[in-house]
Amino acid sequence: MLYQSGNLHKQRDKGLPKMEHFPIVLALVRAAARERNPAVLQHAQRLREALAQGGADEEALALETVFESIRAAAGKMAPARVVLSKAMVAGEPITPNTAVPVDKETSTPLAELWTIDRLQNLKAPILDDRPAKAVEHLVDQWINADRLQEAGVKVPRTTLFFGPPGTGKTRLALWTAQKLGLPVLLARLDGLTSSYLGTTARNIRALFDFANRHRCILLLDEFDGIAKLRDDPQELGEVKRVVNAVLQAMDSRAGTGLTIALTNHENLLDPAVWRRFDARMEIGLPSAGTRQKIAERYLDSFPVAVGAIKVLAWMTDGLSGSDVETMCDFIKRYLTLHANEHTSVVDALELYLELSASTSESPAVLSLKKGRSIWAQEALRSRDLKITQADVADAMGTTQSKVSRLIARNSVN
Ligand SMILES: Nc1ncnc2c1ncn2[C@@H]1O[C@H](COP(=O)(O)OP(=O)(O)O)[C@@H](O)[C@H]1O
Ligand SMILES: [Mg+2]
Repeated sequence: MLYQSGNLHKQRDKGLPKMEHFPIVLALVRAAARERNPAVLQHAQRLREALAQGGADEEALALETVFESIRAAAGKMAPARVVLSKAMVAGEPITPNTAVPVDKETSTPLAELWTIDRLQNLKAPILDDRPAKAVEHLVDQWINADRLQEAGVKVPRTTLFFGPPGTGKTRLALWTAQKLGLPVLLARLDGLTSSYLGTTARNIRALFDFANRHRCILLLDEFDGIAKLRDDPQELGEVKRVVNAVLQAMDSRAGTGLTIALTNHENLLDPAVWRRFDARMEIGLPSAGTRQKIAERYLDSFPVAVGAIKVLAWMTDGLSGSDVETMCDFIKRYLTLHANEHTSVVDALELYLELSASTSESPAVLSLKKGRSIWAQEALRSRDLKITQADVADAMGTTQSKVSRLIARNSVN
């Protein structure tokens, strides 16, 4: 109602993210703040996130200021983020000016810094229920690390997320850091490898030394990168040296800070390295229901009917969260360019399949190539999502009776 997404998008294209009538919206939010109206304030939070994502930084900041003032007034209200105790994660604070170590030969930085500000607006990836619960528990343990330590219970400090590419592992790790209010030192391990003998091991030591001296989460992305050299038998000695360097570095970090490692190729990891982790968690491909939620998130603020999103969840069978996002981006571009015509999600998808030279051969995708009638019948047969004729009609931008006729015609043939 208040959030005129259409306007926001139009303005953003011109590089001037401004929300129309924002002063009135701000006044409403301030009034809700005075009344302590939780429902309105919750929507205002969502609006702030949407604005920040759309690049309307000034408006997002204005809303944040209102929330700050509520927190200040309440005095004891929950802080914006958790502050982990110094005992749990010690070291010098990281600022945007902190210089990260570099590779001596090439001067390339060994890691990238994600300050707390940069992490601020990241949303959590949408996961299936079981991994979502596991992540919640993991984060809970870290948030309550002090209590656990007081009780004499060991706190896990190293975690490995593994699973197919594009399932949100990097995003999940960054979001965890945001939840804990800690900056991230993000290193891609394959980026640390060097062709100079001994340099890779030296880089790993330099990276860990730096991480151990600073208050941060060490994020080791593409962790299997250390095993890549394995393909070349000539370099076996070097591989051993590198794996040993990693093992020693991880031991040097035991009891200091938090470390998250990520890999798409867990089978490439050395068993000794694998065992070093306190927790290991698989992030698999999203289920149909989760894909539906992911599509909902990425199509939010676009006029796509619920039924069409359900159909989209079916169409993305076997794909990752990142693939669903890419598909949604395509649909949004299509709907924007054809805003004045009668178009549908299926029109967009047909074009998408044409242009993306399908990376996936899921039955749902293949059936769209066989024509809409066969495709519609397949959709209605999908078990997980219980797609109805009305859903198919939503996706095709037509009526249920037309879908019914389309199917009947095909059955006769
Ligand atoms: N489960 C998910 N929910 C929402 N978005 C996702 C999900 N998985 C992936 N994405 C989107 O795809 C992007 C790339 O995912 P990424 O975290 O790099 O995956 P991975 O590290 O597993 O390869 C994310 O930044 C996010 O925008
Ligand atoms: Mg990743």
